[in-house]
Amino acid sequence: MKSSCSKSSYYYFWFWLINMLLLHLAVRSQLTTDFYNSSCPSLLKIVRREVKKALMNEMRMGGSLLRLHFHDCFVNGCDGSILLDGGDDVEKSALPNLNSVRGFDVIDTIKSSVESACNGVVSCADIVAIAARDSVLLSGGPSWSVLLGRRDGTVSNGSLANQVLPSPFDPLDSIVTKFANVGLNLTDVVSLSGAHTIGRSRCVFFSNRLSNFSGTGAPDSTLDSTMLTDLQNLCPQNGDGNTTAVLDRNSSDLFDNHYFKNLLSGKGILSSDQILFSSDAANSTTKPLVQSYSNNAALFFVDFVNSMIKMGNINPKTGSDGEIRKNCRVINS
Ligand code: HEM
Ligand SMILES: *[C@@H]1O[C@H](CO)[C@@H](O)[C@H](O)[C@H]1NC(C)=O
Ligand SMILES: *[C@@H]1O[C@H](CO)[C@@H](O)[C@H](O)[C@H]1NC(C)=O
Ligand SMILES: *[C@@H]1O[C@H](CO)[C@@H](O)[C@H](O)[C@H]1NC(C)=O
Ligand SMILES: *[C@@H]1O[C@H](CO)[C@@H](O)[C@H](O)[C@H]1NC(C)=O
Ligand SMILES: *[C@@H]1O[C@H](CO)[C@@H](O)[C@H](O)[C@H]1NC(C)=O
Ligand SMILES: *[C@@H]1O[C@H](CO)[C@@H](O)[C@H](O)[C@H]1NC(C)=O
Repeated sequence: MKSSCSKSSYYYFWFWLINMLLLHLAVRSQLTTDFYNSSCPSLLKIVRREVKKALMNEMRMGGSLLRLHFHDCFVNGCDGSILLDGGDDVEKSALPNLNSVRGFDVIDTIKSSVESACNGVVSCADIVAIAARDSVLLSGGPSWSVLLGRRDGTVSNGSLANQVLPSPFDPLDSIVTKFANVGLNLTDVVSLSGAHTIGRSRCVFFSNRLSNFSGTGAPDSTLDSTMLTDLQNLCPQNGDGNTTAVLDRNSSDLFDNHYFKNLLSGKGILSSDQILFSSDAANSTTKPLVQSYSNNAALFFVDFVNSMIKMGNINPKTGSDGEIRKNCRVINS
């Protein structure tokens, strides 16, 4: 009797222990908001301070840091792989990123401040995620608790970036498919496109709309006529394609819902912006959401936050996957 009792408690002990280990592993593979609470308690303060400095120097950097997180997450997950220097084959050199993605110096500055406070603990991927949140907040947008615990990847794949990042020349169904491929749905496509309420675009990404659009012999008919004239003056044919225009003419440095109001009046800059409202394919997919966000900023903010958290959760490396990079630009030796 006695021995069978201790046998069964012995059995239950192991059963309990194994379950606790499994639970622990399951928890470890999830991102959490308090991941650095004890290992780097000053992390959030440091990032906020540095992003604030960067935005005081140049408001546009808010948009640039937000886009950096997006372009990191879509390619192999949010693993800081976009930060890696290298030759022609790294993500940085891919078409959507080269001379386009900005903010690498700001991330370096934040990383070195963070390293001084807590050496070798915080991933570059997490710093990018926090900087994106702070950029939105400091631009007048919503805030949220950033899930943390991502580790840094050791592979940066430029041809993959060319394949999976949406292009401003893509039709709506391609954009929707590229989002679906990373687990993001129609709501996410529209709410995240609202990030174009801040920042700028170079002429090369929309000048095709200003004349002989798709071989029609005329400009894109969905583009507002005053805006067409303004943009034709800004981006003359054979002019400097690197000249930039603000993405939201109403309030270029303010994170608000004016991006969506613009779409209702043909004032989206990129083709990939305006098709969310004006294409035939939009009628039964993205157009109703554009309309909702245009007259309900609170709904846009709620959906944007949920979509940012979803995007930040794309394929995170956790546990012993990846590494905590010392220098965001190079993998540890
Ligand atoms: C829906 C598909 C998207 C396409 C086709 C697209 C395309 C572009 C293009 C072509 C630019 C201008 C780049 C340049 O001039 O060098 C741009 C800028 C920007 N994009 Fe997107 N984008 C998309 C979605 C997103 C998402 C999901 C976010 C973030 C959540 C985002 C955030 C930004 C920001 C903030 C800028 C301004 C960056 C700056 O001023 O440095 N975009 N985008
Ligand atoms: C982590 O820190 C945050 C902010 O200081 C606090 O709200 C939260 O309760 C902490 N979590 C844990 C588990 O200590
Ligand atoms: C990079 O991505 C391309 C395209 O998806 C793939 O064919 C290739 O195997 C990848 N290279 C590496 C090193 O992962
Ligand atoms: C997209 O996913 C979210 C949950 O992540 C859900 O609330 C929303 O309804 C979905 N939208 C569509 C159009 O399926
Ligand atoms: C517009 O583009 C088409 C196809 O590329 C071309 O055949 C046509 O000559 C162009 N028209 C003008 C006015 O440039
Ligand atoms: C922005 O839009 C508001 C109305 O929604 C308008 O009153 C204001 O003049 C606009 N600002 C600019 C710079 O276009
Ligand atoms: C989409 O809506 C527009 C305007 O309401 C209409 O002219 C067009 O025919 C619609 N397209 C489709 C495919 O339903």
